[in-house]
Amino acid sequence: MPDRYAVIGNPVAHSKSPQIHAEFARQTGQEIVYVRLPAPRSAFRAELARFIAHGGRGLNVTVPFKQEAAAACQAVSERAKFAQAVNTLTVADGAVSGENTDGAGLLRDLEQNLQLRLNGRRILLLGAGGAARGVIMPLIARGARLIVIANRDLAKARALQERFGLFGNVRARGYDELNGMGFELVINSTSASLQGLVPPIPGSVFAPECVAYDMVYAPGGNTPFLDKARDCGAAIAIDGLGMLVEQAAESFHIWRGVRPDTRPVLAMLRASAA
Ligand code: ATR
Repeated sequence: MPDRYAVIGNPVAHSKSPQIHAEFARQTGQEIVYVRLPAPRSAFRAELARFIAHGGRGLNVTVPFKQEAAAACQAVSERAKFAQAVNTLTVADGAVSGENTDGAGLLRDLEQNLQLRLNGRRILLLGAGGAARGVIMPLIARGARLIVIANRDLAKARALQERFGLFGNVRARGYDELNGMGFELVINSTSASLQGLVPPIPGSVFAPECVAYDMVYAPGGNTPFLDKARDCGAAIAIDGLGMLVEQAAESFHIWRGVRPDTRPVLAMLRASAA
């Protein structure tokens, strides 16, 4: 029987993870089964227990269960502790350990795929939810000169400033305070794109040569945020498909001990989404 893996979430019907992991497995000659595991919002623990009872070896965790997953672990990595969220569960001898590969996935997409140097950069991070929390520490670790976190609910951004400001130059701002500020990298971690909306940022945040990155992925790589970034002169405006593939590769590496080549998988997904 091949080892069993799944992505658990609500909803997961449109998750690309099964396709991505199937490609990784084919490429590396690993025999695994990877399926979607839809779970009612109140039944994460029950579904996890059922999965383990049936011999499941690992889970990717997506919205809305990343925090609950952290609480269900017997051991949680440093990265996941900082993110206060787990997106990768590994089951061994009945015990569950948790990791967060989102930050590493973003870094790999920015640095390897887009050839971006983060050291010394001024970065604007839009949003202060779970997606933002997962990437702040990795960006600090890469030597970002400044990370401004902008959010509608300023208290949430301030809480992140307090939490991460010990480690790097992190500032919380309201959207109305961004006028006149320019950044070399603008990352949208809000869920606004999913609603067809753009956070209320002034065009001036996109400095010349700016890279705009939307953690949401969208068919054709177009989101309202990326459209605005292009209109405002961003040099590169790209969606989060690369981050999705890279975080999956990190999970696959944890589970199987081999690192897949992400480039052909990303190219295949881009071609099928075009
Ligand atoms: P999670 O923690 O699961 O990632 P969340 O807490 O709902 O989800 O976070 C979503 C983020 O997207 C938040 O920063 C939210 O801003 P608020 O905290 O001010 O609500 C942000 N967001 C959602 N829709 C938005 C919109 N239309 N414009 C700007 N920000 C938006």
